[in-house]
Amino acid sequence: MFGLTRARRTAAAVAFGAAAAALPTAPSAVAAPRPVVGGTPTTTAEYPFVMQITDATGGQFCGGTLVAPTKVVTAAHCVVGETTGNVRVVGGRTHLSGTDGTVGEVSRIWFDPGYTDAVNGGDVAVLTLAKPMPYATAAYVSPTGTGVYAPGMTGRVLGWGTTGKNGGSSDQLRMAMVPVVSDPECRDSYGSDFVASDMVCAGYPSGGVDTCQGDSGGPLLIGGVLAGITSWGNGCAEAGQPGVYTRLASFSSLVTEQVLT
Ligand code: ARG
Repeated sequence: MFGLTRARRTAAAVAFGAAAAALPTAPSAVAAPRPVVGGTPTTTAEYPFVMQITDATGGQFCGGTLVAPTKVVTAAHCVVGETTGNVRVVGGRTHLSGTDGTVGEVSRIWFDPGYTDAVNGGDVAVLTLAKPMPYATAAYVSPTGTGVYAPGMTGRVLGWGTTGKNGGSSDQLRMAMVPVVSDPECRDSYGSDFVASDMVCAGYPSGGVDTCQGDSGGPLLIGGVLAGITSWGNGCAEAGQPGVYTRLASFSSLVTEQVLT
């Protein structure tokens, strides 16, 4: 089957757009770039827990969520192969081009030991910061996740990722709303690549609103709590190809262990 956009890429490849080679061949019927994080521009004042994950020179390649003053939840595929020295977490900076906010150094990188490749294990990581971030934190879903992933629940996604197929990243943070898709429906889209115990899908049947490249690691908020992590999808915002998010409830206890460490 076609390559999914959560390929075995290094974060560096994502950062420099070399990921294009790993993107699935877009169906030729797909027309002009559509807005993906679609929704609307927003700010880190509005969402203080949304973090940029950057390389050492400030190039943003993923998103993350501050869940404790020194703990940032992101995607495993964003940081696998990275060292603490070449990753930064930037808080309080609405624009990629900004110089405001706080640049945090990373003292430890943990990712789910079960994460081995594109479609296995939990796409979840926790970065420990050398110093606390002076921003409000987000609560994350409990291990039971009761009711949170019910189909039709409204999810809120945030990021600086690309706003259209083959487009560039958005300079300003964007937010969009996407409904949770049922597991059987997501399986119809992705077959066995969709692992319901580890993942949850969100998006409209007709597409049009979605996360995209560069949004990975960022939050899917449901009912006001961090319930998912932007992980992968086939293309972006395509009809019948919802965004796939890490089902954080399944990794909530593991995250808590890291938060308390
Ligand atoms: N893998 C992408 C990243 O590294 C996120 C893709 C999300 N795709 C989607 N269609 N929702 O930024």
